Amino acid sequence: MKISSLALVILNLVWVAETKNDPRAFFVFGDSLVDNGNNNFLVTTARADSPPYGIDYPTHRPTGRFSNGRNIPDLIAEQIGVDHLLPYLDPQLDGKKLLNGANFASAGIGILNDTGFQFVNIIRMPYQLSYFEAYQNRVTALIGAEKTRKLVNEALVLITCGGNDFVNNYYLVRNSLRSFQYKLPAYVRLLTTEYEKILMRLYTLGARKVLVTATGPLGCAPSVMAMRSQNGECATELQRAADLFNPQVTAMIDLLNKRLGSDVFVSVEAHHIFYDFINKPKDFGFEVSNTACCGQGRYNGVGLCTALSNLCSDRAKYVYWDGYHPTERANRLVVQEIFNGTKYMKPMNLSVLMSMKG
Ligand SMILES: *[C@@H]1O[C@H](CO)[C@@H](O)[C@H](O)[C@H]1NC(C)=O
Ligand SMILES: *[C@@H]1O[C@H](CO)[C@@H](O)[C@H](O)[C@H]1NC(C)=O
Ligand SMILES: *[C@@H]1O[C@H](CO)[C@@H](O)[C@H](O)[C@H]1NC(C)=O
Repeated sequence: MKISSLALVILNLVWVAETKNDPRAFFVFGDSLVDNGNNNFLVTTARADSPPYGIDYPTHRPTGRFSNGRNIPDLIAEQIGVDHLLPYLDPQLDGKKLLNGANFASAGIGILNDTGFQFVNIIRMPYQLSYFEAYQNRVTALIGAEKTRKLVNEALVLITCGGNDFVNNYYLVRNSLRSFQYKLPAYVRLLTTEYEKILMRLYTLGARKVLVTATGPLGCAPSVMAMRSQNGECATELQRAADLFNPQVTAMIDLLNKRLGSDVFVSVEAHHIFYDFINKPKDFGFEVSNTACCGQGRYNGVGLCTALSNLCSDRAKYVYWDGYHPTERANRLVVQEIFNGTKYMKPMNLSVLMSMKG
């Protein structure tokens, strides 16, 4: 072997060793779409810790994830070479495991503090962010302040919230307090302003690569259709809400990045991604897009998914697992779009974001 090619081989080995020893951390904030079990440690009804939840997870057991199998954070973690995250409240999250990152999400929460009040004891956004601060203090004790800052700056962050501010607040009951206070466009402006404050707080805490999602097509969720659809169409009021809110979040992120002089935040237009599944299910290999796999009643979307519910046999053919949450297969397609998409990732997809230095 010539000296120069030997040098190349060594360089390559060093590079591989460096990337292996220096894995990225991953942090997750938000609601049930991304919770992976924090609520198991809380006294609340918003939890997914009994069968058939988890039926297609590698352990085939419920974990607290609101799906039949893996959720979006699991699939992103697998792609970036990080272990499935532990919930921040899990006592097993300690020592070296902290360096992998953590999941702070809690089912039922929204952008606003009063969202999900009926679930009582959940980790609302200000507390998820305080836990992130506490996490950083624990890691600092382990590896020092400078390395901790670097770990957080280089980490990938995912935040998903907003859906509950509609389904578990504004539209929870007819004449809700919020709908009495605000017309829909003003409420959407309030949510966007408050979401921006949350994102700025993440930035202050050191986050520099942040995927942001707002809501899916709320009116098309089987639980919403069960209550509001007349003839199988997506419920118009909640679709209108999602149509108003999502573009405002993308626009807010664009302005925020301009102000910060850097593309810190990336908008994942989940609303459009899911709407495509619902509109053209066959194009994506789905057979059922308006009915939940697990549930009962109209659209199998009434009440909770429990051991007594109707359960579909082929989960891969369904967009929705329960009345509100996607199947693993739908999550997988969303994660494909997040990494390699060209239409619904603004201003760039995750492959491009991850290839950027720093
Ligand atoms: C939500 O609660 C936190 C903590 O109690 C508080 O600091 C914050 O101002 C509240 N946010 C809003 C929009 O009321
Ligand atoms: C993105 O595309 C690359 C190259 O085609 C592929 O290797 C990778 O698995 C894709 N990622 C996802 C999440 O689909
Ligand atoms: C997204 O990722 C693929 C490679 O995985 C790339 O070819 C494409 O240009 C990217 N799209 C955008 C909009 O960045």
